[in-house]
Amino acid sequence: MVEATSPLADRIRLVVLFGGRSAEHEVSCVSAASVLDAADPERYDVLPVGITADGRWVSAAALVERSGATPELAAVGTQVDPLPVLAPSPEATTVVLPLLHGPFGEDGTVQGLLEQAGVAYVGTGVLGSALCMDKAMAKEVLAHHGLPQARHVVLNAFDEDSRGGLVRRVDIELGWPVFVKPANLGSSVGISRVSDGADLPAAVELAASYDDWLLVEEAIEGREIECGVLGNAELEASVPGEIVPSAEFYDFDDKYSDSGAELVVPAALPGDTVTEVQRLAVAAATALRVEGMARVDFFFEEGGRGLLVNEVNTIPGFTPRSMYPRQWAASGVPYSELVDRLVALALERHARRAGRIGRPRT
Ligand SMILES: Nc1ncnc2c1ncn2[C@@H]1O[C@H](COP(=O)(O)OP(=O)(O)O)[C@@H](O)[C@H]1O
Ligand SMILES: [Mg+2]
Repeated sequence: MVEATSPLADRIRLVVLFGGRSAEHEVSCVSAASVLDAADPERYDVLPVGITADGRWVSAAALVERSGATPELAAVGTQVDPLPVLAPSPEATTVVLPLLHGPFGEDGTVQGLLEQAGVAYVGTGVLGSALCMDKAMAKEVLAHHGLPQARHVVLNAFDEDSRGGLVRRVDIELGWPVFVKPANLGSSVGISRVSDGADLPAAVELAASYDDWLLVEEAIEGREIECGVLGNAELEASVPGEIVPSAEFYDFDDKYSDSGAELVVPAALPGDTVTEVQRLAVAAATALRVEGMARVDFFFEEGGRGLLVNEVNTIPGFTPRSMYPRQWAASGVPYSELVDRLVALALERHARRAGRIGRPRT
């Protein structure tokens, strides 16, 4: 066992990566602004590095208030090269906090860059990030571990035979209505609820415009319960929360408009259900190689199959009003302490792995 070096003894240069090329650019900016507000200036030199919607990295990027409350990445920062920004600094220990949601941020691509740069970073590594971002692969892994989930069909958009036989497969294997999703997005982008075979081709076409791999899933009648996990080798689970959508399902507008879904923390659940949510959250996250943090989302089919794992988000929304930080606040870990814990976990993993690289296997 490698001792975790008292990780917060040194001054930390905290590089907050935000913005990004996905549909979740804006919510990422809000998360980053919250961390900038909350990080203790005695401990952290925070270096915000924005990634513009077209993928350019800009340092000292300003967050500007747009109309309303949504900060946006100002296009006025100085363009920088990623690797020098991530290089070690002689004065402080560098830790990167990627707060990028969706493709090109949460999917292992940025994590691969951070691995190449040899820098400590918060959250799940390459494999776990990629698995959790791909809903089809995640389902295969969860099934292998015997974890409960909705019935589903995975198909490739170019496989004409699968597309042609899909209505019949839904009739036989799933029943209507179904949800059609691209395998690799977030924020409900490209997702449709389909009640009738006649509407299936359009939903498949829409999902196929976002990804080559698609998922068709039975629609679950149930509550939406979410549970945070925190830790490295041993994940801890938070108190569960509940999403109460205001629309037909928890769609993009419902997620990001003020009048949208209600977040209830803690969720009103019996004690034994809470224990089961937490057990399944840790099991699902462990199976999917989560490290540091994640939010595990469930459907709760009361009176039916009970809890079904829906998906695991490795970079959950991170404003103080977001579900993940609220779950930890309700579990006794307030926002700024959550940042400290995540930084400590990043350093612990980095030290452990650095000690291993290049060591001969025994
Ligand atoms: N099988 C399903 N049954 C019922 N509702 C679903 C199903 N799949 C998705 N939804 C609804 O759509 C929302 C978004 O789907 P989700 O799979 O969580 O994708 P995303 O990664 O975009 O959040 C869910 O929060 C839920 O409201
Ligand atoms: Mg979701």
